[in-house]
Amino acid sequence: MIVCKTKKELSEALRAGRNGKSVGFVPTMGALHAGHASLFERARAENDLFVASVFVNPIQFNNPDDLKNYPRHFEADSELLRENGCDIVFAPSEEEMYPKGEAVKSYSFGTLETVMEGARRPGHFKGVGVVVGLLFELVEPDRAYFGEKDFQQVAIIQDLVRQMGIKTQIVPCPIKRADDGLALSSRNALLKPEDRAKAPYIHATLKKSTEMAEKSCREIKEWVERRITAVPEMKLEYFEIARPHDLQPLRPDAAAKGNVGFIAVWMGNVRLIDNIRY
Ligand code: PAF
Repeated sequence: MIVCKTKKELSEALRAGRNGKSVGFVPTMGALHAGHASLFERARAENDLFVASVFVNPIQFNNPDDLKNYPRHFEADSELLRENGCDIVFAPSEEEMYPKGEAVKSYSFGTLETVMEGARRPGHFKGVGVVVGLLFELVEPDRAYFGEKDFQQVAIIQDLVRQMGIKTQIVPCPIKRADDGLALSSRNALLKPEDRAKAPYIHATLKKSTEMAEKSCREIKEWVERRITAVPEMKLEYFEIARPHDLQPLRPDAAAKGNVGFIAVWMGNVRLIDNIRY
């Protein structure tokens, strides 16, 4: 595995390794876990060359404490990447990624970025768009892999590819869960043990709510909100049911079936998100 710290090293490694081969790319912010590993397995299996990036992107954090506390352990990350057959990893510094005085290309995502995560985390998707746009320009992948835990991010990236006019195929990958149902996330490591023990209740509630799929969004919303707000350790930020293709919320009297439920919950100072299909 070649570790590249600079854009120049990356382009040299790609030039030497590519030779007409297909490139699969997994961008990450490190703190890698089994959820990432499932993306790595696919990228490895479906492409000749498997490239990953590890970069905690400061401009997508709307909360300075979240950025400060974001787990970072590059040694363990590179070990996991090596074990998963990664050929090239790009791990730039902040200065390398965003040289002072150099303008970045920025994208707008219309109503995709004004709902749910976009509404609660101002600037988040702009920051994601900038960094993934830059990474796509550098790596020029044939396929790029993203986890569906960040369902809205997948829609944003699909729109980004359309705006950039590139051929990269975006491959959404199913959410990976711990045995107790909690969606895997780098932030889970920050949960207090007692909160970690209760956190699976989020997925259990969403899963149970699929039994109500024929009912109205209003009924499901009220039911989920009631269950989550009854847990003293949980602070519900939102639960919305939206259309999978454009993420726009449904009318309260519309049936949930065929749509997706999205949730964000705070436990202590850790923010957890999850989603479920109806
Ligand atoms: O999903 C993530 O880890 C990040 O948002 C991404 C896509 C690597 C961009 O920084």
